[in-house]
Amino acid sequence: MHGLGESSVSDSILVINNVSKSYQLGETKVHALRDLSLTLEIGEFTAVVGTSGSGKSTLLNLIGGIDTQDSGTIMVSGHSWADLSDNKRSEMRNKLIGFVFQSFNLMPMLSVFKNVELPLLIQNLTVAERKSRVEKLLEDVGLKDFARQRPDKLSGGQRQRVAIARALVSHPLLVIADEPTANLDSETTHQIIELMRELNRKNRTTFIFSTHDEKLMTHVNRIIRMKDGKLVEASAVN
Ligand SMILES: Nc1ncnc2c1ncn2[C@@H]1O[C@H](COP(=O)(O)OP(=O)(O)OP(=O)(O)O)[C@@H](O)[C@H]1O
Ligand SMILES: [Mg+2]
Repeated sequence: MHGLGESSVSDSILVINNVSKSYQLGETKVHALRDLSLTLEIGEFTAVVGTSGSGKSTLLNLIGGIDTQDSGTIMVSGHSWADLSDNKRSEMRNKLIGFVFQSFNLMPMLSVFKNVELPLLIQNLTVAERKSRVEKLLEDVGLKDFARQRPDKLSGGQRQRVAIARALVSHPLLVIADEPTANLDSETTHQIIELMRELNRKNRTTFIFSTHDEKLMTHVNRIIRMKDGKLVEASAVN
């Protein structure tokens, strides 16, 4: 169990129970999430949709342990974020979770290879093991020939492929992507989602990602629809 102790209660990769989160904005209290519950099984490919401000990023940040809820519980692979020490939290984030962001978040001074290798540096792997993992992922995302390039030589879609390779290189159980295609044209958007779907099918990695693009709904097997911090619909599609 990834050295994080025994898993308890559920085999679901993600169990969210009655989670609420609000932010104080000056005098006003913004209810970003209201009493939200949700369960994801291993291998699901889920889109979170909803208008701007509906709580998508807040939800994804809480799932990834980047932020903390006011009430309720979030369990990833049987571990509740709230019960973990800071060290265990980082360990869980590094080992179980991969993040993909809208703005790619790549290191401009490092080559594509080095960017993808980054999450592996804190793990106990040999240079050769790291190399083979990175090369495998670069091949999977179609960027084998770009390993030595710096990110600024790549197109937006290629950069996002690098970010996806980096998110997957540590073999996470859950990949969280906040609008991974927001900066891409529609053709590239489809390619990126198809790539994520392929990796999801091949490795049974669970994906949850937010999007504004309703056209992507044909690619997913689950849609979570948010409105005003509430989950208004969770439907299985494909
Ligand atoms: N750090 C913060 N401080 C104050 N308010 C916040 C903060 N983060 C989010 N909010 C508020 O919480 C609500 C939900 O925001 P969130 O970013 O989760 O929405 P979203 O669905 O991701 O929107 P978008 O589609 O624009 O990315 C919004 O009203 C937002 O203003
Ligand atoms: Mg957002």
